[in-house]
Amino acid sequence: MIHISPENFQLPVALSTDAANVDALYMLVYWFSVVFTVGVTGTMLYFVWKYRRRPGHKAEPVTNNTTLEVTWTVLPIFFVAILFHLGFKEYAHDALAASNALEIGVRGQQWSWNFTYPNGKQDASEVTIPINRPVKFVISSQDVIHSFYVPGARLKKDAVPGMYSSITFTPNTIGDMQVFCAEYCGKSHSGMLAKIHVVAEKDYEDFLKKGDRLDGEPLDAYGARLYKKNACYTCHTVDGSKGNGPTWKGMYEHTVKTTSGESLKADDNYIKESILKPQAKIVDGFTNVQMPPFTLNDEQISALIAYMKTLE
Ligand code: CUA
Repeated sequence: MIHISPENFQLPVALSTDAANVDALYMLVYWFSVVFTVGVTGTMLYFVWKYRRRPGHKAEPVTNNTTLEVTWTVLPIFFVAILFHLGFKEYAHDALAASNALEIGVRGQQWSWNFTYPNGKQDASEVTIPINRPVKFVISSQDVIHSFYVPGARLKKDAVPGMYSSITFTPNTIGDMQVFCAEYCGKSHSGMLAKIHVVAEKDYEDFLKKGDRLDGEPLDAYGARLYKKNACYTCHTVDGSKGNGPTWKGMYEHTVKTTSGESLKADDNYIKESILKPQAKIVDGFTNVQMPPFTLNDEQISALIAYMKTLE
């Protein structure tokens, strides 16, 4: 939750060590602009008043003034060079990861963020990282251009299909950072959110060892959680209303008609295939949005099916 107070009236609370440098640069450019805007506008208004037309004063044509012209050319070049130097230094610093950085894969797809840890563990819409350790997010896209945007770390990088990009920072506050998608990527772009949980090193180690399903969690409850986590709701409703994809209400074991004119029963095998290879059989009337394939394990698919069964 972002609270607005005088300290963060312009910028959200900084949650990484690098954010303070970006904020310092921002404030420098901000006050630089304020001083020059007030100075230039003030001088202009003063001259308008001073040289206004009045009786007894005749306008004289102005010729050149070499000193003035050299000054107003050299001085701004000097200022712009300083601003460029400071900005580029910080940009280079943020673009290069420390050698001990924790590398986490980020894959954008319509319409969720998916994360892969160094040990192969995967998670959707949330990622857990340890505090005070540099992290490098290696970003890619499954379909169209998305943009991985973390305001708390003052960083944003496009997720472009067919290439990798990265951002790196060191979180210094325990708690959550909000992730947005900052590139319009289709109907549910605004719902493409994620949370970065910053935890103590020990809690991160424990988290890596834990499975995804909670202890004693019923399969259908786990499925309901996966439905939210994987942002299935951006396309599939569970109350029968129309979405980008077929509603899940009453879908299980009912007959669906595919685009090839075939009628088939939405059983376990069909649902599994539709999750892993969504383009194999498309339900008639849902061709305008292409569902991306999801990498879920067998237990997760069973959990989603168990959840669908409760939606009769
Ligand atoms: Cu992804 Cu907008």
